[in-house]
Amino acid sequence: MPGIPLRNGGTAARIAVIPGDGIGKEVTPEAVKVLRAVAGSAKRPMEFIEFDWGADKFLREGVSLPVGAIEILRDEFDAMLFGELGADILLGLRFKLDLYVNARPVELLHDRLTPLRDRTEKDIRLMVFRENSEGLYVGVGGFFKKGTADEIAVQEDVNSRKGVERIIRYAFEYARHNGLKRVCMSDKSNAMNFAHDLWQRVFKEVRPEYAEIDSRHLYIDTLAMEIVRDPRQFDVIVTCNLFGDIISDLGAQLAGGLGLAPSGNIHPGKTSLFEPVHGSAPNIAGKGIANPLGSVLASAMMLEFLGWKPEAVALREAVRAALQENHVTPDLGGEKRTQAVGDWLAERVEVKLK
Ligand SMILES: NC(=O)c1ccc[n+]([C@@H]2O[C@H](COP(=O)([O-])OP(=O)(O)OC[C@H]3O[C@@H](n4cnc5c(N)ncnc54)[C@H](O)[C@@H]3O)[C@@H](O)[C@H]2O)c1
Repeated sequence: MPGIPLRNGGTAARIAVIPGDGIGKEVTPEAVKVLRAVAGSAKRPMEFIEFDWGADKFLREGVSLPVGAIEILRDEFDAMLFGELGADILLGLRFKLDLYVNARPVELLHDRLTPLRDRTEKDIRLMVFRENSEGLYVGVGGFFKKGTADEIAVQEDVNSRKGVERIIRYAFEYARHNGLKRVCMSDKSNAMNFAHDLWQRVFKEVRPEYAEIDSRHLYIDTLAMEIVRDPRQFDVIVTCNLFGDIISDLGAQLAGGLGLAPSGNIHPGKTSLFEPVHGSAPNIAGKGIANPLGSVLASAMMLEFLGWKPEAVALREAVRAALQENHVTPDLGGEKRTQAVGDWLAERVEVKLK
């Protein structure tokens, strides 16, 4: 992933840590513990500043994001590591910081974790890029005759030429940068004949610039079927906000479920946000059994974004080893507690990076 110029002359990284609510408070400290071990072993300074924003603070003080929070995050940090935050805060940050790339890697790290029969690690390795700043999620719309039997609700799908082009280009650049050979753009242009006509035209215009990449188009319904039937077909998928939201969660299940899925909300060259895909999981919060691997894998994405490539690789290898040795939480069939997984990973990366 293209990185960003770091502050402090490129030597140190400054990370805003926002654990949020529920299990966000349990998994995020484990990810930070592992990141501290990485930074210590690599002898590269990384500074963590924690913020207590989230639902608990909102209930206590009536404040979700304090005034000036966005500017502080944007101007004083290289990246953000989130635990779990409500959709309103998260969507607000994505829009206000213009984090237009939602990167959702789908990588099977152990054969036993996929619900697909006879599929192995080498079959499920792809990246979904979801447009993260436009589409049906911008909140443009309204009601007419609300609350009556004649009510009408309208939700507008907002697609700009600039917005569509930059996410399609990002997908191609990512493929080129990582030596990946296939990019699939997915839309519903047969039914959404304005918004996705734009996606079609931009895709057709951009793809010749990446002649070495085998690019193709699938309607989103076909993609949903094909990704289950044979995930080996895909290296990089790029699609709009709504379809990306759905197809990336489908992908998360193919690779072991919510506890393992990381995500990045990225604007190349600017402060970006990394988080596990799961929510606050109230049904297991406070029990010490939340799986921290999604947060740790999100941290690995963050390291890569910051240009710490060998460290990111070491972190992913440690997660793979934890799965191999079944040093994992109950949701993945193990018996370990959240903190024990964090301790084990921290030790493992220390040995690896020494
Ligand atoms: N990105 C986000 O911040 C985000 C994402 C999804 C949901 N949410 C919010 O979280 C709250 C709860 O939502 P939900 O229950 O539908 O989704 P959830 O992701 O919190 O949990 C869904 C299921 O997966 C399990 N699970 C999730 N993460 C796990 C982990 N790390 N280890 C072990 N098991 C895990 C939970 O126990 C639960 O059974 C809602 O308020 C929702 O709006 C936030």
